[in-house]
Amino acid sequence: MPRSQEEIRKDINYDESKVPVFKLPSPLERPDGGRVTTAYEWVNRRRGEVLDFYKKEVYGQLPPRPDRIRFETLSVRDNALGNTAIRKEIRIHFEMNSARSHSFVMLLYIPKNAKLPPPVFLGLNFKGNHAATDEPDVMMTGRNIAGELLEPDGRGNQVHRWQFRETIQCGYASATACYHDIYPDFCSEEGWHRSVYGLFYPEEPAESIHKHASSISAWAWGLSRMLDCLENEPSVDASKAVVHGHSRLGKTALWAGATDPRFRLVISNDSGCGGAALFKRCFGENLEAILALAPYWFVSDLQRYINNEAALPFDQHWLISLIAPRPVCIASATGDLWADPKGEFLSGVYASEVYRLFGAEGLGTETMPPPDQPVTGEISYHLRTGKHDQTREDWLHYWDLAGRLFGR
Ligand code: GCU
Repeated sequence: MPRSQEEIRKDINYDESKVPVFKLPSPLERPDGGRVTTAYEWVNRRRGEVLDFYKKEVYGQLPPRPDRIRFETLSVRDNALGNTAIRKEIRIHFEMNSARSHSFVMLLYIPKNAKLPPPVFLGLNFKGNHAATDEPDVMMTGRNIAGELLEPDGRGNQVHRWQFRETIQCGYASATACYHDIYPDFCSEEGWHRSVYGLFYPEEPAESIHKHASSISAWAWGLSRMLDCLENEPSVDASKAVVHGHSRLGKTALWAGATDPRFRLVISNDSGCGGAALFKRCFGENLEAILALAPYWFVSDLQRYINNEAALPFDQHWLISLIAPRPVCIASATGDLWADPKGEFLSGVYASEVYRLFGAEGLGTETMPPPDQPVTGEISYHLRTGKHDQTREDWLHYWDLAGRLFGR
């Protein structure tokens, strides 16, 4: 009998002295016992094995390519955000020869007087596009399984997470869509068929889809389709794309960065268990807790490691390694022990050996920095004072990192 969430929460460990001693498998160790020693071997052989492993054991396969993708511009406003931005709403349509279809709406802000097409931040939102912005005429998005709007009264209530005005002032474009419109995140069996997976596996029982797919893969796929759309948008430079996400959407941003090399900078904001944090530390949220909350975030077979993290043949530093040598930023918050800040930091430490193959440093330190003192490298880390959230303080680092990468 699976335990209830309340029972599981009672046993969560927040005591560093009770973190088990664990052995971390290196992503560089090949299944035949050899060790990868060059970037060439990593890129041409081992990286593919690690990626396939993740697709099989953790997040599942990404949805396939639909028969047609179509971008429909719903609105354009050239005096948005106090006349500093051009705002577009674009519906991304997925259509199958079977006549099945799915779509979601992307909100895009572009700095108005940019001399060159600017880099672009992409991220999914929790509560609808209208909640991410303070502009009253943005279309409401974000629907539940029944197709009803989730947050009809939520206009503007997530503005602090998005910081569109300052992102525009810094010279970046920024795009978002609601994650529920790609895979509705409601702990419902129906979620599978109401999501983009319904296009491809309409007859397959949910339980069987769950063996090879997950909502995190659906969301990551959605981010890549947003980038496809931006590649058709001459007013942004889609070759300079930054993917970011908070919490479960931070897990998603890491997986999107791992599966789609077009994302040049990958930002995990408080992604925690199943994101940047190491499973084997069993500090804060653990496998039992996360799989009781939302089993469909991962493939069903991950359940066999519940209360047996020691037997996992990998850990989440492998996920960070899949992004190498591209820059990645791991952010934690002091008040977010549930996400295990130290475990998030350590995955950056242990992924660094893959970055070193490329002549890079990775994180460049094994000492966790004090709060609010960021470490900046190909792998960056910061521990913000405060609670589980994505705030302006986090954004200050993200704008800075994009500036360093794209020379702005
Ligand atoms: C829960 C869950 C986390 C997740 C978070 C979120 O707290 O346990 O794993 O990151 O929700 O997405 O907000």
